[in-house]
Amino acid sequence: MPDLPAVDLLALDPDFDADPYPAYAKLRAQGPVHHIRGGGGERFWLVVGHEACRAALTDPRLSRDWRRNGHLATGLAAPPATDGPGTAHMLLSDPPDHTRLRRLATREFTSRRVAALAPRIQEVTDGLLDVMLAAEDRRADLVDALAYPLRMTVICELLGIPDLDREAFRGWSDEIAAPASAAAARAAQAEAVPYLNALIAAKREAPGDDLLSALIHTVDEGGDRMSEDELLSMAFLLLLAGHESTVNFICKGIRALFAHPAQFALLRSDLDGLIDGAVEEMLRYDAPVETAPPRVATEPVEIGGSVVPVGGVVLIALADADRDPARFAWPTRFDIRRTEAGERGHIAFGHGVHFCLGAPLARMEGRIVFRTLLQRCPELALDGAQGERISGLLVRGERKIPVRW
Ligand code: HEM
Repeated sequence: MPDLPAVDLLALDPDFDADPYPAYAKLRAQGPVHHIRGGGGERFWLVVGHEACRAALTDPRLSRDWRRNGHLATGLAAPPATDGPGTAHMLLSDPPDHTRLRRLATREFTSRRVAALAPRIQEVTDGLLDVMLAAEDRRADLVDALAYPLRMTVICELLGIPDLDREAFRGWSDEIAAPASAAAARAAQAEAVPYLNALIAAKREAPGDDLLSALIHTVDEGGDRMSEDELLSMAFLLLLAGHESTVNFICKGIRALFAHPAQFALLRSDLDGLIDGAVEEMLRYDAPVETAPPRVATEPVEIGGSVVPVGGVVLIALADADRDPARFAWPTRFDIRRTEAGERGHIAFGHGVHFCLGAPLARMEGRIVFRTLLQRCPELALDGAQGERISGLLVRGERKIPVRW
């Protein structure tokens, strides 16, 4: 079957980079799958709409195992950086490899371990706000002052990394989440690998109370354990996977509150009662991860009457799925009481076997950071226009959020 003509998203909507939602909605009105052209000329198959996105996320013919199936991929100028050391992780595998790696990880990345981090997350948030609020000009960049260092400290505490080189880490995570090119992503990967190998060797010698030490030593009932490369890859995944998404979540959440003053005031009026619903609505309203990481079709896959051919690279628009009126009433309305009214089921953390392993941690961080920020900064306001943007179909966001109080 001949390919459908590829749609250029910027031609569909020149404001796509600043606000992709109208373009996604236009596409959704035409059907659930579209052949699209990315900024660099690549061709993807974009799935939109809640039902189709959920179905695609659980379709075993759409593979995340790029090491095994990447050679099938068509439409890309260069293959993504999904081979080499550090890539033998669960987000780049399909069942049964995925099942095995996820089972080993969940033995140690438990809800108890996450809950135990709460007091420390609170302490770090308080400390960062003490510093931020001491600024004489009563101005700060919320990303630099709060979202970024909080996120980094939390993941380092979880993994047991006391002295991470923060600048190097920022470079790697920026490149891996929103790579300027496949070559740049590979270079970042090549720099991060020796660092993580040394870290694992040190923890093998002197294990701590942390998640990485536990993963190094974990053995399941059948005697299975992770290989060296799998451990390196797991460390890589945990350190970098949830990084941009959590920072983006905090940035998008605060933007949503500022854009909806009545909801902002409502939340302030009953922080304890409404914070859980507010966090869920922030995740639904403006997805921190816009499209799930790409899948490659290992067989022809029919979605809503269109066929994604073998080798088609598929992007699943989580952001659009959660703005679908077939699933959420008045989906463009930001309503922190939506979950109270029974409207649950957003897929900001994905769906199916790859459902975000860090979701409980991300939710807890969100609850603590928004509650503390709103309690301690009743006068918080945006300070000037939107700053530098991160554009990319995977993660779209902002590098700075200037605020004053
Ligand atoms: C608000 C913040 C976050 C969002 C929106 C988010 C979103 C996602 C999504 C959409 C997926 C599924 C990707 C797919 O199906 O291809 C995913 C997977 C994953 N996330 Fe998160 N994430 C967040 C935070 C975190 C954190 C804090 C961690 C860990 C510290 C984390 C670790 C992971 C891991 C390990 C996977 C792979 C799971 C698997 O393949 O089985 N995430 N995340």
